[in-house]
Amino acid sequence: MSEPITYLEHWDRADAFDPPAVLRELSAEQPLSRMVYPDGHVGWLATGIEVAKEVLSSPAFSHNFHSAHFPVTKKGQPFPTMPIIPGMFIHMDPPEHTRYRATLTGEFTTHRVAALGERIEVAAAEQLTELRGLGSPADLVTAYVQPLCRRVLNDLLGISAEGGAILARLSETSNDDDVPVEDEFAASKEAFLYLRDCVEKERADPGDSMIGRLTGVPDLTDREITNMLLIVFVAGLTTCEGALAATSMALLHHREQLAAFRDACASGAGVENAVEELLRYTTVNQYQIFRTALTDVEVGGRLVSEGDTVTISLPAANRDGSRFAHADLLDLSRDPSGHLAFGYGVHICLGQRLARTLLTIALRTLVTGLPGLVPEVPAGDVRLRARTPVFSLHELLVRW
Ligand code: HEM
Repeated sequence: MSEPITYLEHWDRADAFDPPAVLRELSAEQPLSRMVYPDGHVGWLATGIEVAKEVLSSPAFSHNFHSAHFPVTKKGQPFPTMPIIPGMFIHMDPPEHTRYRATLTGEFTTHRVAALGERIEVAAAEQLTELRGLGSPADLVTAYVQPLCRRVLNDLLGISAEGGAILARLSETSNDDDVPVEDEFAASKEAFLYLRDCVEKERADPGDSMIGRLTGVPDLTDREITNMLLIVFVAGLTTCEGALAATSMALLHHREQLAAFRDACASGAGVENAVEELLRYTTVNQYQIFRTALTDVEVGGRLVSEGDTVTISLPAANRDGSRFAHADLLDLSRDPSGHLAFGYGVHICLGQRLARTLLTIALRTLVTGLPGLVPEVPAGDVRLRARTPVFSLHELLVRW
């Protein structure tokens, strides 16, 4: 393993549940290794949980697009270098990043998420009724996962179902390796124009919604707000859909764990822990977490030079045997705390409280509402979105 690996090698995920074997081997033997990027850059790949945390929490590393080498390609084409886009705080460093992020933290407080949670309960029950109405067998992804997650994201932003459909197209095209780059750009433009229109309307007559509140923040332009909303929606929808699909599948194919989850739902004890373990085990942000060194810096005892990009494999880090015993097993009774499914450091997931609430309600509603739920096809026959930045499923046929 002393030769640099190429980015292509680690893309081949063998099954629905595990990160590729090469990443798991690296995590055990060489948690920080050299990796050749699609543009020829010889950078790094972090697969151990401690080195991952070191990189993600160090101010010596930037999340800026300018200096980065992309670890993944879209249909074999390297990503174009992008200018800094006002409001796209996910690819900014402090203090700019901090300024934008601070204006959004109020949208994800315990109180706000609890209020959203009440509406998620209603939405989940309604979507389950629709699923039942379709009759068994049915596709869980299109009949439950997608409509539910989309309702939640629309509700968060305070936008209509029609508007949400425009934004969901961007989420879909950006996380589908088979979609041409031009289609993604077209979806991005349509989503931007739709949201900018919403922002203009709210600025003229602000309501009690996320968009209305953002228009009241001094010095934020319409363009900045529009881009911030785009980030929140796409980062939230793509991951929630992937995580709900992947965790549902993990439960359905681990019958003892499914029974344990049902027991936890009945008693009310252990559900939160179970959801954390499902998040650790499935870790859907698979190939596009990276940082670039602003200066020479030591990581895990090795020298990373200024300008080097380090890709962090969150799925591999979450299977690090030095932190999680029998890490490849799904075990809802273990202590999974400290997992990196939501990242780490200043860019740690802004919507994690909402994501946990959504997953908990959606999974509980599903498994308690359909006690006879079983997979319709073997795990190996499920069509995976295995090469996309966020892991997900094309479909998940179930019967009950
Ligand atoms: C299970 C669902 C989710 C997962 C697994 C997830 C995962 C992640 C991860 C790994 C990051 C860090 C990215 C990096 O460091 O490069 C992140 C950041 C982010 N997430 Fe999530 N996320 C989820 C749900 C959500 C939701 C529901 C929202 C909002 C509605 C959201 C909004 C964001 C935003 C805005 C960022 C960027 C934060 C920043 O740059 O400061 N995510 N998420």
